[in-house]
Amino acid sequence: MSAISLLSALSILSLLLLTGESQDFTKRIPKNSLGLKKEKLSHLHFYFHDIVSGRHPTAVRVASAAITNTSSTGFGAVVMIDDPLTVGPEPGSKQVGRAQGIYASASLSEAGTLLMVLNYAFTEGKYNGSTLSILGRNPVFSAVREMPVVGGSGLFRFARGYAQARTHFFDLKTGDAVVEYNVYVFHY
Ligand SMILES: *[C@@H]1O[C@H](CO)[C@@H](O)[C@H](O)[C@H]1NC(C)=O
Ligand SMILES: *[C@@H]1O[C@H](CO)[C@@H](O)[C@H](O)[C@H]1NC(C)=O
Repeated sequence: MSAISLLSALSILSLLLLTGESQDFTKRIPKNSLGLKKEKLSHLHFYFHDIVSGRHPTAVRVASAAITNTSSTGFGAVVMIDDPLTVGPEPGSKQVGRAQGIYASASLSEAGTLLMVLNYAFTEGKYNGSTLSILGRNPVFSAVREMPVVGGSGLFRFARGYAQARTHFFDLKTGDAVVEYNVYVFHY
């Protein structure tokens, strides 16, 4: 080995050591230190009730742009939701959680194309208190829409997967909708 290559090997080594030191706020830990065992795949099925009309709406517009009302797609409308999630499609069906967050009109040319940024906050059984986070594109006039599950909390820590939405009922007059969801998630 020449003196030059020995020198460069040494400097790479010292760089690695220095880098190692500067990153000691992170370290590898075994999975079982967090009680993680086998990854599981779960299928969740529920109905999402988006109520925009009446005296007790669960979805309200909170912002819009100067062009929103004249845009053919309502571009820029931002709606905050706290929508019930139920076992069946009827309004009085047993509630299993809420969909809390935002949807916004995100296409200049395609009507009903929403950005969805929300959490499913579950309130039933062992999933009570656990959440799943959704961040996706929802073209509501398509028969099936798919949105990524980007994470979760509680029993859904480390979650990843996808949610498929199908419109079950849409009232053209009021804008109220019931949407069927099938959600597939990996979690521990
Ligand atoms: C747009 O229309 C909505 C609903 O009709 C109304 O509440 C809002 O004030 C309008 N916004 C603008 C900027 O004109
Ligand atoms: C879910 O958890 C909350 C808070 O801990 C509790 O008040 C509520 O009764 C629980 N619901 C069910 C159905 O277990």
